[in-house]
Amino acid sequence: MDKGIVWEPSLRKNPNISRSRLATLFVTGACIALFYYLKAGFANNYVAPLISQHCEHLGPISAAEFQARQNSLAKTLVKLNASAYIAEPGPSSLFYGNFSNWGLSERPLLLIITPQLTGDNIEAKVSILTPAFEAPRAKMLPISSTKAVTFIEWAEEANPYEHAVSILSESQGSVFVDGHMRNFIVDGLQAAHPYGAVSSAPYEIKRLRERKSPAEIELMKCVNEATILFIRAVRKRLYFGIRESEARAMMQATFASAGLKDGGCLVLFGENAGLPHGAGTDRALGVHDFALFDCVASLHGYKSDVTRTVALPGSKIPAEHLKIWHDVRAAQTAAVGAAHEGVIAAEVDKAARASLNSEYFTHRLGHGIGLEVHEDPYLNGGSKTILETGHAFSNEPGIYQVGKVGVRLEDCFYVHENGSAVFLTAGVGGQAKSPWSP
Ligand SMILES: *[C@@H]1O[C@H](CO)[C@@H](O)[C@H](O)[C@H]1NC(C)=O
Ligand SMILES: *[C@@H]1O[C@H](CO)[C@@H](O)[C@H](O)[C@H]1NC(C)=O
Ligand SMILES: *[C@@H]1O[C@H](CO)[C@@H](O)[C@H](O)[C@H]1NC(C)=O
Repeated sequence: MDKGIVWEPSLRKNPNISRSRLATLFVTGACIALFYYLKAGFANNYVAPLISQHCEHLGPISAAEFQARQNSLAKTLVKLNASAYIAEPGPSSLFYGNFSNWGLSERPLLLIITPQLTGDNIEAKVSILTPAFEAPRAKMLPISSTKAVTFIEWAEEANPYEHAVSILSESQGSVFVDGHMRNFIVDGLQAAHPYGAVSSAPYEIKRLRERKSPAEIELMKCVNEATILFIRAVRKRLYFGIRESEARAMMQATFASAGLKDGGCLVLFGENAGLPHGAGTDRALGVHDFALFDCVASLHGYKSDVTRTVALPGSKIPAEHLKIWHDVRAAQTAAVGAAHEGVIAAEVDKAARASLNSEYFTHRLGHGIGLEVHEDPYLNGGSKTILETGHAFSNEPGIYQVGKVGVRLEDCFYVHENGSAVFLTAGVGGQAKSPWSP
């Protein structure tokens, strides 16, 4: 006897059951439809939920840390007999003041930090020079400061630089400006400040931002880890025939779905990777090709930079290209082994070049990374910077044979408190193991 007939009489006897059965059937059907709908959606745009939440536990830099940054800047200014540090909106204003989002124009808006002596204590005072008519907007900036911020407003007909220097002591103290400051502002400040020189901040100041704190390292670890996890997830969805633009769009959607800002990749297939910063040709992925992904993203302002050169399960990579891949990886290993507190940056670049002795390794080994993807100091053959704890760099050797093949592998590392170089990606396995295990 068919089971359906068994329960049919009860249906007829009780119309309520009939309705609830129908409802059950309807809900089941809807669930099945939803399952296939989501499955189809995931096939196009899938990020495993655990990966997309990888950095959810981390908040932005705390107010206490901003205060510590400002106060150590103030102490350094006093040590250097300087009266102020001045920056335009940009990475350094983000570092010291927690804001950068202000469109630069011909009208200067400046972050000014001056030391204040109270007894034996040196503390920072934060001021903002703003066009008067923009003051209401300037006051909405998320500036972090324990004491009230002073807003110095300049009217359209006024000289903004005279207003800026009016708050400085009349000592001979020099004024140090952020290296990114535009020349006309430096000139304006110098003309308005006859008491002392206006010049780019020296290394004693630059190193305050170059050496990352534990909180910064945690953010940088997480965003670099997430970037690798995303590359690995997207690699699994690649297929022969996919175009560079399609793979790039997959990565971008993945970053966006995880809430990471400014996420994006350079995606180059086959010989297109022979140009280190090539634009690609929207080429389709072939069975003999490597696929190169060079990706960046941002978490609370801190950047990742990761490059992987990958293959698919069915790829038939020429032996010569596979050898290049492993040579590049060996150079990356040699470089991180040479990096250590106290080592000169040029030596790290040299270690990679001693391993990967090739005319096709055409660029420097790496760059500093933090609030900017590329920032001081750099790992190149001419860099005399001495590695200090908290320094963070990319380690990205590569081989580029124009029109043939390109391989680059990139993981960032930082100099740990114990002096050793540690990959920021170590938490998810660090370096790639092979083109099939990135
Ligand atoms: C820094 O600015 C962000 C917004 O960009 C804000 O969410 C955060 O609370 C600010 N941090 C501090 C310490 O004020
Ligand atoms: C700062 O000024 C003092 C006293 O004039 C001087 O002895 C010292 O060398 C100066 N320091 C710097 C870094 O210029
Ligand atoms: C330094 O710390 C890192 C991370 O915990 C560890 O991997 C490394 O072995 C340590 N190095 C030394 C010399 O202790």
